[in-house]
Amino acid sequence: MNILVTGGNGLVGSHFIENYPDVLSPPVNELDITDEKSLEKFFRLNDPEIIIHFAAFTDVTAAEEQRNNKKAPCWIVNAEGTANLIRAVHPDTYFIYISTDVVFSGKKENPGPYSEDDSPEENLDFLSWYGWTKKEAEKLVMNNLKNAAILRISNPSRTKYAPKPDYVRKILKLYDMGKLYPMFNDQYLTLTYINEVTETLKALLAKRSTGIFHTSSVNIFTPYKLANYLIEKARGIKNAVKPNSIESFLKDSPIRYPQYGGLKVEKTQKILDLKFLKWEETIEILAKQLRVLE
Ligand SMILES: NC(=O)c1ccc[n+]([C@@H]2O[C@H](COP(=O)([O-])OP(=O)(O)OC[C@H]3O[C@@H](n4cnc5c(N)ncnc54)[C@H](OP(=O)(O)O)[C@@H]3O)[C@@H](O)[C@H]2O)c1
Repeated sequence: MNILVTGGNGLVGSHFIENYPDVLSPPVNELDITDEKSLEKFFRLNDPEIIIHFAAFTDVTAAEEQRNNKKAPCWIVNAEGTANLIRAVHPDTYFIYISTDVVFSGKKENPGPYSEDDSPEENLDFLSWYGWTKKEAEKLVMNNLKNAAILRISNPSRTKYAPKPDYVRKILKLYDMGKLYPMFNDQYLTLTYINEVTETLKALLAKRSTGIFHTSSVNIFTPYKLANYLIEKARGIKNAVKPNSIESFLKDSPIRYPQYGGLKVEKTQKILDLKFLKWEETIEILAKQLRVLE
């Protein structure tokens, strides 16, 4: 298969590349999605049948400082970059866009976990700027390509990836440094095991399914519960973490973090004939692998 992967050296995309080493995965200096000349040159020389678009501006905190600024990188990479890529590809290309649960508000009034059929939030006041740019990119993909799939993920985690810690390894790193803060016991999220993203992509590629798909744990966690479970499994210490409330935290937070977030996966599991793990099962696998690596 002639597949182009953008963002192939990132946290999530690099796992796919490790499993599909023969795909095209150009670095940014060979394919910059914000630069139309770079896109034009790349597509003059290459004609991919399939595109998996992982590339994004993913720093949620930095993105918030760019709120409403369409000249700043978060909008330019996530929305304009995706629009540029859509314009550059053949209209029949099978195009998979990697997205996020934070296209939903996670507010009490419209709580998750969200299904593949739920509509993303359309009020900017209820989304982070990062979430807004990803939601706009989803619309560009769905409105302009007839052969497209969106794959949403949530708190992606894996055992190995040196450039940045994921949701799980960040908690463990802070704990090991004695800097783990109290964790929210009133926030509800789901966890994505990155190996299962690659499994989902494999199934999508085999079936060429279009529409919206989710990869995440089949059940929800609170960060307090997950952190305690992780530290017990990885370090053998019980009840290591103190609880905190996101409700009071959100009153002073400039970022719209979801309180009732997460993804449902029933439809994806059924269509693609997959079975995702519970978050506890993923933590057990990660803790075991991390113990071997340390
Ligand atoms: N991490 C999360 O918590 C999370 C949660 C939900 C969904 N997602 C989504 O999952 C996808 C992958 O996330 P990730 O965490 O793997 O991202 P990441 O580690 O931050 O990697 C981002 C990738 O995008 C590339 N990129 C950035 N600007 C580019 C440009 N102008 N042209 C071409 N490539 C560019 C980067 O290349 P360089 O490294 O060379 O700059 C890098 O390969 C994203 O679409 C993200 O929105 C992530």
